Amino acid sequence: MIPWEFLESAPVPGTGSELCLYRRGEEFSIRVGNRELMNSRAHASEEALAELVCARVAGRPRPRMLIGGLGMGFTLAAALRRLGRDGSIVVAELVPAVVAWNRGPLALLAGHPLLDARVTVREVDVALILRVERQAFDAILLDVDNGPEGLARKENDWLYARPGLEAAHAALRPAGVLGVWSSGPHPVFVQRLRRAGFTVDEIRAPAHDSRKGRRHTIWLAGRAS
Ligand SMILES: C[S@@+](CC[C@H](N)C(=O)[O-])C[C@H]1O[C@@H](n2cnc3c(N)ncnc32)[C@H](O)[C@@H]1O
Repeated sequence: MIPWEFLESAPVPGTGSELCLYRRGEEFSIRVGNRELMNSRAHASEEALAELVCARVAGRPRPRMLIGGLGMGFTLAAALRRLGRDGSIVVAELVPAVVAWNRGPLALLAGHPLLDARVTVREVDVALILRVERQAFDAILLDVDNGPEGLARKENDWLYARPGLEAAHAALRPAGVLGVWSSGPHPVFVQRLRRAGFTVDEIRAPAHDSRKGRRHTIWLAGRAS
């Protein structure tokens, strides 16, 4: 067994913690402390998030999308594969080093999605965008943490609480879709989405391409037309 090799660390803004990047052969891992935030071998549900949302907004002229959390770029790459040539994606990433890693050692994993001309990267908290934008996006994809029970950063609770969900609702165009990734189900969060004005579908998505083993939860929250 090849041992894990530590590559780099970077502070997570607004917390005392650090994101650490590790490699073991061709496998990469991003961790907060001892907890793995993302592993390059399990990305099926991150891609499913983009595929399910893109299916909902397919056919719209010049679709505009916001993705919160770059991670290893799998959600972004999957969205780019399904978005038309006239579409565009804003990616908000809180930790600038993650963007640098995606231009460096992680770039190959998802096929260099940051080189795509349809992508604009903003090194900010996605909450900053949600607080100011109005009817700006056809779709918003949130994968910034473990889900509504976030572990990485206390401030991210706002995104999953009523004010954050109402801000996301306001930032969506009519009939827009908010897609949210989570490590597991959360009935209270589903109620919260409904109270913020969304219709909600819950999908259990396999973590691995093999479709065996763990499943994650994806919510598709629709804004009325
Ligand atoms: C689990 S990873 C995302 C995985 C990604 N879906 C993929 O396909 O690789 C979470 C990412 O969200 C970032 N993040 C955490 N909080 C954030 C926030 N408030 N705004 C923007 N990015 C955030 C983390 O730094 C990390 O890069």
